[in-house]
Amino acid sequence: MTASRIAIGFVLISSALSWRASVAQETFRSQVVVCQEGEAALAGREVLRRGGNAIDSAIATAFALAVTHPAAGNIGGGGFIVAYLAGSREVVTVDFREMAPKASTETMYLGPDGLPKPGHRKGPRAAGVPGTVRGLGLAHARWGQAPWADLVRPAARLARDGFKVSATLASGLNSQLFARRDDADAVPEDLGPRGDHLADFAASVAAFKKPDGTRWREGDLLIQRDLADTLDRIAANGADEFYTGDTARKTVAHMAKLGGVITLDDLAAYQAKVRPPIRGTFKGFDVYGMGPPASGGILIVQMLNILERFDLKADGPRSPRTLHRVTEAMRRGFYTRATAIADPDFVEVPVDRLISKQYADELAKSIGDKATPSASLAPFPILGAEGAHTTHLSTLDAKGNAVAMTYTLEEGYGSKSVVEGAGYLLNNEMGDFNLVPGRTDATGRIGTPANLIAPRKRMLSSQSPTIALKDGKVRLVTGSPGGRTIPNTTLWVVLNALEFGLSPRDAVDAPRTHHPWFPDVLNMEGQSWDAATREALTSMGHKLKVGGIQGDAHTIVVDPDGTIHGVADRRRRTSRAEGD
Ligand code: DON
Repeated sequence: MTASRIAIGFVLISSALSWRASVAQETFRSQVVVCQEGEAALAGREVLRRGGNAIDSAIATAFALAVTHPAAGNIGGGGFIVAYLAGSREVVTVDFREMAPKASTETMYLGPDGLPKPGHRKGPRAAGVPGTVRGLGLAHARWGQAPWADLVRPAARLARDGFKVSATLASGLNSQLFARRDDADAVPEDLGPRGDHLADFAASVAAFKKPDGTRWREGDLLIQRDLADTLDRIAANGADEFYTGDTARKTVAHMAKLGGVITLDDLAAYQAKVRPPIRGTFKGFDVYGMGPPASGGILIVQMLNILERFDLKADGPRSPRTLHRVTEAMRRGFYTRATAIADPDFVEVPVDRLISKQYADELAKSIGDKATPSASLAPFPILGAEGAHTTHLSTLDAKGNAVAMTYTLEEGYGSKSVVEGAGYLLNNEMGDFNLVPGRTDATGRIGTPANLIAPRKRMLSSQSPTIALKDGKVRLVTGSPGGRTIPNTTLWVVLNALEFGLSPRDAVDAPRTHHPWFPDVLNMEGQSWDAATREALTSMGHKLKVGGIQGDAHTIVVDPDGTIHGVADRRRRTSRAEGD
């Protein structure tokens, strides 16, 4: 294990141990922003204080995270917004998922052996056409009320003036920049091939290295001048700047230089889309999520529909029978994900059936006292692993508008490639397509047709921004990063809050579980599961993997009396709730 990996491991373990110890403010009277990083939360709160609404606040927070949380915050990626508009009492969603460039083909990442070529996850060729700036622009045009420039300029200032890096960011950047030479004190001049790291790309090193070339330490100032200029242009010219302006031309020049295939035409053609939300009901709450190409909304509603057939509360959240039932709901949800959900502009997704109570009845009836072998649901395993960085933010304003937003570069630092002269990181979201047509295997690779690459198609996502209402008022705003674990993390937060009645802090802190259908393994977060629980689950036929951390669900809970809880999930350490 390299020194940098050990350092990251230490950060994660100490974060897991210390998340309960936090004493930050969590209850608020009127408004709140909860996200992964403090400067971004402050930027979002400032917008609320100046009279902006929850949409404005989410936009400002997202632009700021693109500067202060570069592993996942982004303008070069994509994501989803679920928002509640208190004035019209409606839930709206925006799909700003990345899209395959026009020149994409089903087999574009495969080598002569028919398998993905080494290195296919990095560099501009791994990127889908970014959606974030268009998505934020669309949300602002429809529902924002603050001036656009006021939402982008705080991020530009953070990039130009710099901000103090946290221990977590310092460690992350060091592991990216000193990827091959953990004993080195300086970023090596020779940037030869060395795996998927920022260190692979000269422009990325230029953007993120410390001016004196030494390792980042907590409290150092990170300045990103090219990114500041890009954000200033976006502030002045609107979202079009990214898609048809100077920034677009810089992106395409970068593609030409490093072998990417995104063209000016691809950028100009990119559209964010307002889509119908997925709506379900659970124990008197209305639960709203994101529809395809995100799988989160369908999965969460389907799993809740299944689970409301059982009295989970009587057994409690940690009882073996609850864990078994939740696992079986997850297994069936992820089977649905693998076989039925993809870009709805390309594939017909039978949404109504998948989230119907009747279908849930059928699925619930198939759950017995023993683990269902995953292979018995369908004759093939699915889906490869997803990366470890995405980020979720939640906002709520004094009028009761709320935003759940998840966005991502896919892996941490995405494709690792910063666009030269524009200072922003490109995503590597193309890896969320099924890359090997027709090939499914026990390692979890899948080649089912719905999610194969096609020009201008959006790749399937696990992102799950979720809002629950009761009597037309927001009661829960949540979502998470974590690749395929995302819908299951979100499910646990919803169950903990709405079924088990845990306190908001406990609803977020409680250890989570994840079953992805395949591999047929029940992942149990942390080390707090007692031997009797583990033995009971094993005797039901579940294969267990215990440990690690799961997700990072920055959540808002509103009590019936109106008290607002902004619950920053501490699992990844740097998160904050800021409000009034
Ligand atoms: O959209 C998706 O499902 C993935 N690209 C998300 C990746 C992710 O969450 C990695 N994060 N921790």
